[in-house]
Amino acid sequence: MNRGLMIFLGCVLTFSSAWLGLVVLPYWQLNNEAPYQSPGSATAYPQPPSAEVAAGGKVYQANGCLYCHSQQVRSQHFANGADIARGWGQRRNVSRDYIYDRPILLGTMRTGPDLAAIGERNASPSWHHEHLFNPRSKSDWSIMPSFSYLYERRKIENGQRSPTALTLGREWTVLPGKRYRPTSEQWTATLAADGEKLQQLYAVARPNQPLGSLTDPAHQDRLLTFWLALPEEEYEIVPKPAADQLVAYLIDLRKTSTPLPEAHEP
Ligand code: HEC
Repeated sequence: MNRGLMIFLGCVLTFSSAWLGLVVLPYWQLNNEAPYQSPGSATAYPQPPSAEVAAGGKVYQANGCLYCHSQQVRSQHFANGADIARGWGQRRNVSRDYIYDRPILLGTMRTGPDLAAIGERNASPSWHHEHLFNPRSKSDWSIMPSFSYLYERRKIENGQRSPTALTLGREWTVLPGKRYRPTSEQWTATLAADGEKLQQLYAVARPNQPLGSLTDPAHQDRLLTFWLALPEEEYEIVPKPAADQLVAYLIDLRKTSTPLPEAHEP
């Protein structure tokens, strides 16, 4: 046999064994995984996503959430069970948790917390909307980017706030994605125009505190903090459909709530 043929056959063997071992075999092993029907429960786990949730998965993909968030809770035997100890999930994830995910968004980066079970630990839509609109409104140290372009800031019609409007104070809503502070001139003008009204609101909100004078700088600072936390009177922030879909997707991420036999770790 000549050398060229030997090299050729060697290459074929090397690549085909890798292909068999890394592609074909896992495909055979995992391709037929079905939802798990636990004896006591009426519905199998996992369930196919609703149209809203599936659309939210696309928004998650399009906005690069994957670059900072994984969706895989690691084994108890990895790093002393650090993922479970942090509260990221109740058990490790296994392949069956992902059978309806297309594509599977496992992720490798963990700049932010793992989200495989975010719907288990926080199922509040309003929290997620406010956090996505501006993560600093929840933790001022957060380095997560603002996704305020998934929301619309609009004038309130006929004094009727929309039921889906975010309840954040003006500090977060005047400049979407940023944190608003008035300049000292603006603040002086606001106090001159609305100071008395603000004093009344403050007295109602803090009935047990002595009400300072409008000219006292320390009290002016307290009023400023109070005013920044109040929602704007004329404008509101409402989620666009993509934001609603994304939040539905996040709340549907419950990849550790159902015990699976193969996820059991002694
Ligand atoms: C640049 C990195 C980065 C990107 C991109 C990013 N995040 Fe985050 N995320 C973080 C960090 C850091 C935190 C922790 C601080 C906080 O709660 O804001 C976080 C926290 C979260 C939390 C709260 C998790 C918990 O355990 O409380 C959710 C939910 C979340 N992100 C969703 C998203 C979604 C959805 C997207 C895409 C639209 C996204 N993130 C994009 C960095 C990122």
